[in-house]
Amino acid sequence: MPPQLVTLHSLDPQRLAAEAAQGLLRPQAALPPKFFYDALGSRLFDAITLLPEYDLTRNEAALFATHRSAIAAAVGAAGATLVDVGAGSGAKAAAWFAALGTRRYLALDISCDFLAGALDALAGAHPQVAMCGVGLDFTAALALPPELLSGPALVFYPGSSIGNFAPAEALALLVQMRQLAGPGGALLIGVDLLKPVAEMEAAYDDALGLTAAFNRNLLAHLNRLLGSDFAPRQWRHRAVWNAATQAVEMHLHAREALTVRWPGAERRFAAGEGIHTENAHKWRVEAFAALLRRAGFEAVQTWTDAGERFAVMVGR
Ligand code: AVJ
Repeated sequence: MPPQLVTLHSLDPQRLAAEAAQGLLRPQAALPPKFFYDALGSRLFDAITLLPEYDLTRNEAALFATHRSAIAAAVGAAGATLVDVGAGSGAKAAAWFAALGTRRYLALDISCDFLAGALDALAGAHPQVAMCGVGLDFTAALALPPELLSGPALVFYPGSSIGNFAPAEALALLVQMRQLAGPGGALLIGVDLLKPVAEMEAAYDDALGLTAAFNRNLLAHLNRLLGSDFAPRQWRHRAVWNAATQAVEMHLHAREALTVRWPGAERRFAAGEGIHTENAHKWRVEAFAALLRRAGFEAVQTWTDAGERFAVMVGR
């Protein structure tokens, strides 16, 4: 069966354009990182995961591979729908189908076009799994209509995507994941851990400039979404550790004074003025386990590497 595709209201382009405009008009311009992920942005992110400086994905994949059966046993949730939050290519989830005995896969992503292509490729390789792609902005609300999800879910949120949220927002999202999982469901999540500042900053400012391209591509995406006239060349990529918030911040700084215009509004930027595009929060194992318990996951199990660089956790 070919994968089913559904788009939910939260992906309405007008809604997203209004949110982007609002972010640009704030005294300190800021855009949520979801705007990175158009079709090119999703591919640039996949390329970032191959960079020597960016070890998150490799560390997580090594933990998954080493502890696959123990993690699957901890998850339990036999027969649960695998709900992949921010699925991207879906490759990470597909690696779990066999160990979890997955029969139904729900792939959620903001980048709907990318998702459609990814699922077509996956469906061919996994004919035993019923697949459905759902285009939605889960930062607006992580809820699925009953015709898409009934019964227990294994919520899959790998890659330290939870790091994009400040602790209070992360807690709110985890509470929604607890709801989505339902009785007998579970959460399988990956979290990047605190490490030396130079290593954390290098992961977001690589020598090849892929992360800079990923960051600037957000401007090209906004030009299509909002009708703005950003010239990506006029912007410089910056990544800096913020000790107060425990996050690597990404910014784009105007190389010169400039004005960005779009239908109905404009925003002037002084030379050097920035747009804040991402926070990547880093956690300690105990603090994140405590957050999961506060979100309603009573039993939390953790796997981490010898260097304590990354943690995989199961919450039930
Ligand atoms: C997909 C949110 C986990 O924060 O590490 C990679 C995105 N940004 N390089 C991260 C990202 C710059 C990534 N997450």
